[in-house]
Amino acid sequence: MNEKLLYIETFGCQMNVNDSERIVTMLADIGYRSTTAPSNADMILLNTCSVRGGAEEKVYRRLANLKVFKKSNKHLIVGVGGCVAQQEGDELLRKLPWLDLVFGTHNLHLLPDMVIAAEHGERRCETSFIDIDQRLDLFPSVKGATRISSFVTVMQGCDNFCSYCIVPYVRGREISRRSTEILEEIRQLADRGVQEVVLLGQNVNSYGLKTQGEPSFAELVRQVAGIDGIQRIRFTTSHPKDMSDELIACFRDVPKLCSQVQLPAQSGSNAVLNRMNRGYTREQYLEKICALKSVRPGIVITGDMIVGFPGESEDDFKQTLSLMEEVRYADLFYFAYSPRPGTKAAELAEEISREEKQQRLERLQDLQRRITMETYSAYLGSVQRVLVEGEGKRPGQVSGKVENGRTVNFPGERTLVGRLVVVRIVKVFQNSLLGEPV
Ligand code: SAH
Ligand code: SF4
Ligand code: F3S
Repeated sequence: MNEKLLYIETFGCQMNVNDSERIVTMLADIGYRSTTAPSNADMILLNTCSVRGGAEEKVYRRLANLKVFKKSNKHLIVGVGGCVAQQEGDELLRKLPWLDLVFGTHNLHLLPDMVIAAEHGERRCETSFIDIDQRLDLFPSVKGATRISSFVTVMQGCDNFCSYCIVPYVRGREISRRSTEILEEIRQLADRGVQEVVLLGQNVNSYGLKTQGEPSFAELVRQVAGIDGIQRIRFTTSHPKDMSDELIACFRDVPKLCSQVQLPAQSGSNAVLNRMNRGYTREQYLEKICALKSVRPGIVITGDMIVGFPGESEDDFKQTLSLMEEVRYADLFYFAYSPRPGTKAAELAEEISREEKQQRLERLQDLQRRITMETYSAYLGSVQRVLVEGEGKRPGQVSGKVENGRTVNFPGERTLVGRLVVVRIVKVFQNSLLGEPV
């Protein structure tokens, strides 16, 4: 088989990152090897995200840039997948007559056939939803290069319909993967040297709730912890309303579960949370945070926040800032609200002006930068165990994560990759720590 080169560009969340890994694995079976340059590729794929406004335009702009490669290589195949592909479908093929294929978020398994068809000049678009429990079994596991940390998809889709969010429309209904399959995949990863797994889904903590005979997410975590060779377990993302007492108890009882939890609040104001259809109040959210901190002192909390949701008053916004002070997020992802077509919030009046959103975003950022620096300054001089994942920022450095997920760079040889190394923290930056081996 003639070897061909695949260039893939990934936007959006870890779901897409994981899907791209699966795509690479699948297409290896039909002779494609990954390349990091679009210029010498035989196929270019964009795995797209549509969570915020402007995403579609960005994809069209990127495609317009990539078109030049069609001129230099007339056999080049160009395709679009992911959430924008799901949303736009046929429209993409219609607007761009030179585009070869479009695949939606439920159709990864069709890709090898679509690529072979494209090699014979056939243009295809596959975006139908497959809402059966077995759908996730259609997705291949990731093979190939051994890494230290690996994503493992446990569920997909979302049934929460937060009023601002397009994900339920582009990812479809929530589906849990069978636990036997998940555990088997993790055993195989452990056999290949993987020491850390990140359990992945739009809303992992509702895992199993709608599927007969499957364990709860908390029980799944305990089962994963029983697998030899797995040293660290993380998961993302959680919805606060599904953060059960049973899952909180795992942070007390399961040492392999890392001291880190991503628990997006989205707003600190009850009025806004209600209009967002989040299903919890500020007080209920804080109760969960308090419970997590009490069973696992020092646990790092991270989250997402939206500013400028329709009707958000100055007072609502101040409540977001005060929630941040109370929770003390180690890290926060924050976004200016952008209306998404088809969502409930897009119909709400009282839009906040662009300037106001920008100002609030800056105020929020200033506060978060301060909290992040204060949080990590407390690590200065402390001794931490780092699971080394690869080369560091500078030559002669390696890089890894401390137990709570923060990246540490420190002087060391590549031979340390895959080892747990004890380091002392000597410097704190906004996004990482600097260490020295003890
Ligand atoms: N499933 C995850 C994340 C979904 S999208 C969860 O529920 O936590 C990632 C983040 O994008 C969201 O947490 C939210 O903060 C942000 N987001 C989603 N829709 C948005 C919109 N219309 N405008 C601005 N930010 C948005
Ligand atoms: Fe979107 Fe809400 Fe589902 Fe997260 S839980 S993906 S924010 S609808
Ligand atoms: Fe974006 Fe789709 Fe993820 S919209 S955030 S890539 S689920």
